[in-house]
Parts: sequence; structure tokens; C-alpha cells
Amino acid sequence: MKPYVILNAAMTLDGKIATKTGSSEISGKEDLIRVHKLRKEVDAIMVGINTVLVDDPRLTVHKIDVDAGDNPIRIVVDSKARTPLDFRVLNDEALTIVATSEDAPVDRIKTLKEKVEVVIGGTGRVDLKSLMEKLAKGGIKTIMLEGGSTLNYSMLKEGLVDEVRICIAPIIVGGVNAKTLVDGDGIDSMGNAIRLKLKKSYFLDEDLILEYSVIS
Ligand SMILES: NC(=O)c1ccc[n+]([C@@H]2O[C@H](COP(=O)([O-])OP(=O)(O)OC[C@H]3O[C@@H](n4cnc5c(N)ncnc54)[C@H](OP(=O)(O)O)[C@@H]3O)[C@@H](O)[C@H]2O)c1
Repeated sequence: MKPYVILNAAMTLDGKIATKTGSSEISGKEDLIRVHKLRKEVDAIMVGINTVLVDDPRLTVHKIDVDAGDNPIRIVVDSKARTPLDFRVLNDEALTIVATSEDAPVDRIKTLKEKVEVVIGGTGRVDLKSLMEKLAKGGIKTIMLEGGSTLNYSMLKEGLVDEVRICIAPIIVGGVNAKTLVDGDGIDSMGNAIRLKLKKSYFLDEDLILEYSVIS
């Protein structure tokens, strides 16, 4: 049992989701509205700890009109419980779950537990399969995975992503150290690539939106 997971990201034509300095404002106004409509539809939004540390995102629905209570649950994948207490993902605009590993310092877990729910699983890194099972058991049916590239890779590699929705902005930034849509260790041969099927494509202003199902 696992939630239905939609990986959503904005990238440049050269596949970067941020510049080498971490700047990540890529898509246009219309696409941001699409993203916020999707956030409103799902039960939870999930990000990796580096995205939190670099962007300090709110991870709420705020670019469209919504009623109070329409914010999905925020999930931070954070093996060492490093999420800073004063970062916006821990504010009271929405519920937050911090998923840590068994290696997280006990005092950090205790401090985080005073503010949010903490789920512990995995040694070294967070055990994503078991996290998905726990979230499904807790009633979370749909998750929007909002990166970054390291978490995107792990989730795809473990077969936990059902759909990929990408906004491609007509810009190029280059940079060998700029994060791409999917980084991580990478797959060794093309024969083992994760395969997708294009379901839908359309423009929002100058941005091209591509929606895929993950087939293997
Ligand atoms: N354009 C977009 O749509 C978009 C969206 C999101 C993010 N971004 C950009 O992406 C960049 C951050 O990406 P990132 O790749 O550095 O980091 P990330 O994917 O946000 O976070 C990765 C971290 O998550 C933790 N983690 C715990 N368990 C994991 C597991 N099983 N698998 C993978 N990660 C696990 C690890 O840190 P610990 O071991 O310390 O826990 C890992 O280093 C930022 O620059 C951000 O702006 C862009």
C-alpha cells in the first residue's frame, strides 16, 4: 500500500532545476498557478532537506484563492533531523511531518517533536518505501513530490513515482554543478532506464508542460 505520487518540477531546457548558486525561479506566472492548483488537490507535498535548506519554501497553497485548511500536509525527508526550527516549512500554516532515519540525533528528534510529527525509519537515509507505507496507513492517498534532484532519483529508482509533470521554460543556464531534474547515483545502462509514457502536453505562456505516466 502506498500513496499515488506525482513528481512535479520546473526545469530549464538544459534540464536544470536550479542554477549553480541555487537560484530556482524558473517557470512563469501561469505555471505557478498550475503548481498551486495541484498542491490544493493532493493530500501532501514532499521535499528533500536540501530543498528546505536552500529555498526555505512555505510549501502552501498561496498563489490561488483558497479557504483556510486547504493546505496539504508538508513532508520533509531529513535523515539527520536537520530541519531548522525557524524555517517556514515548520510554521503553523499547515501540518508538517519530518521523516528521519534511526541515525538522527535523539535531541534533535525530541526538539522537532515539540513542533511537528516525526516519523523514524531507515538507517543512514530515510527508508522511503516504509515511509510511503506509513503515510498511506495514516490516510495520505496522494503526494506531490517537489524535489530536489537527489530525492527525485531515490523515489524514481525505488519505483515509488506514478506520474511525472514537468514545466520546461525556454531558458538555458548550464553549469556542471547545477542540479538537474534527477541526479543521485544514476542508472548504469540505458537498458535499465526508468521508462515513461507521455499522456499530455500543452503550453502555459512560453512554458511547455509535459505530463507522463511512469511505466517501469
Ligand atoms: N525547479 C524545481 O522545480 C525545484 C524543485 C525542488 C527543488 N529544487 C532545487 O533542488 C535543489 C536541492 O536538490 P538536492 O538534490 O540538493 O536535494 P534534495 O533532493 O532536496 O534533498 C536531498 C537530501 O534528502 C535527504 N534524504 C534522506 N533520505 C533520502 C533518501 N532516501 N533519498 C534521497 N535523499 C534523502 C538527504 O540528506 P540527509 O542525509 O541529510 O537527510 C539528501 O541529501 C535546490 O537548489 C532547490 O532549489 C528545484
